[in-house]
Amino acid sequence: MIRPVLFAQDSERVHVRALRALGFVNRHPLLRRAVAAVCAAAELPVELFGLKFPNPMGLAAGMDKFAQAVGAWEALGFGFSELGGVTWHPQPGNPCPRLFRAVADEALVNRMGFNNPGAAAMAEILERWRRLGRWPNHPVGINLGKSKITALEDAAEDYSNSFRILRSYGDFFVVNVSSPNTPNLRRLQDKAALDEILRALQEQNSARASAAGTLGDAPKATPILVKVAPDLSFEALDEILELCASRELAGIVATNTTVERPPAAAGRLKEVYAQAGGLSGRPLRARSTQIVSHIYRQSRGRLPIIGVGGIFNAADAWEKVAAGASLVQAYTGFIYEGPALAGEIVAGLRRRMDEKGLTHWRDAVGSGHREQSETGNGKNRAPARVAE
Ligand SMILES: Cc1cc2nc3c(=O)[nH]c(=O)nc-3n(C[C@H](O)[C@H](O)[C@H](O)COP(=O)(O)O)c2cc1C
Repeated sequence: MIRPVLFAQDSERVHVRALRALGFVNRHPLLRRAVAAVCAAAELPVELFGLKFPNPMGLAAGMDKFAQAVGAWEALGFGFSELGGVTWHPQPGNPCPRLFRAVADEALVNRMGFNNPGAAAMAEILERWRRLGRWPNHPVGINLGKSKITALEDAAEDYSNSFRILRSYGDFFVVNVSSPNTPNLRRLQDKAALDEILRALQEQNSARASAAGTLGDAPKATPILVKVAPDLSFEALDEILELCASRELAGIVATNTTVERPPAAAGRLKEVYAQAGGLSGRPLRARSTQIVSHIYRQSRGRLPIIGVGGIFNAADAWEKVAAGASLVQAYTGFIYEGPALAGEIVAGLRRRMDEKGLTHWRDAVGSGHREQSETGNGKNRAPARVAE
């Protein structure tokens, strides 16, 4: 009932209002509890890179760039949230309009351009939530981007400045080198450039771990993941995977938005698809699953993957899990499906596990590959979609 009213208004204005409302929920414990009473998800615990996730369904980066609603995401049933993208320098992002709905395809095109308060202000906001006891009871990731004014050659310093100031607030960090909306950012997916960024981050990580060690605590490095674009070739992806061992990557987030567009769009869809920016939502689903599947296969299932792109329901989420994702996330699905999304997906995943007689989450992850090899299907295809 509400959707047509919301969708008649400017996309970014609705987003700003919704985040303001969720910020209100975050600040009022009674409201948080009321929302949780309606939207909380069933338990489906997952342990990954030393963290305990109450369920595998997370909020994708870009939704809460200002950390306005940190506690509300848990109340809405998400098993983890990824805040940001944050850059070292505060920046306004691209001029408006910069967010467009392709309603008939349940997609979005955005060219936000990392509008965010900057890493130092973000650290202050997070410190405040922590002090006020508003911190969620689930893992919080922080998505790091490069400031627009920073030259590509200085990217490593830009990312590591943000990491230094934010690292005590994030349970894990995601290095975003895959947004299409910062000029040339995606060139940082090149092996040498990415290697330099990861080296800078891991230097800080090990300095921190050894400092903790000298104080008598167990040394603990913060998990760092890389987020990749769906438009990379498998060869380019393989080069990134070569860095995983040497730079001790905790995992890959696959995928960001695509610069590709579905064919044969007409009318309003054609107008939206003509906009510059990244496409997310339903049309991205299949390609991002292929990328998840490729990474799982290449890493022989050893590298944790967070699958994201076109997840709207439990069938979409299961598809990513069967392809090899240990955790999943959504952004556009939340816009189109609304606040019940996480709870419904977790319930559907549990049902699916019961139907398949799976008792451990780890047996679900990558199960599509094992089913394929049992039935002798081709090795280069993504696992077949499983209908809900
Ligand atoms: C408006 C908007 C802003 C986004 N901002 C970020 C961002 O700051 N950092 C990032 O890594 N991904 C960002 N993303 C990408 C999403 O996190 C996600 O990878 C992508 O939208 C695919 O998932 P979906 O189909 O569920 O939306 C953004 C997406 C949208 C639609």
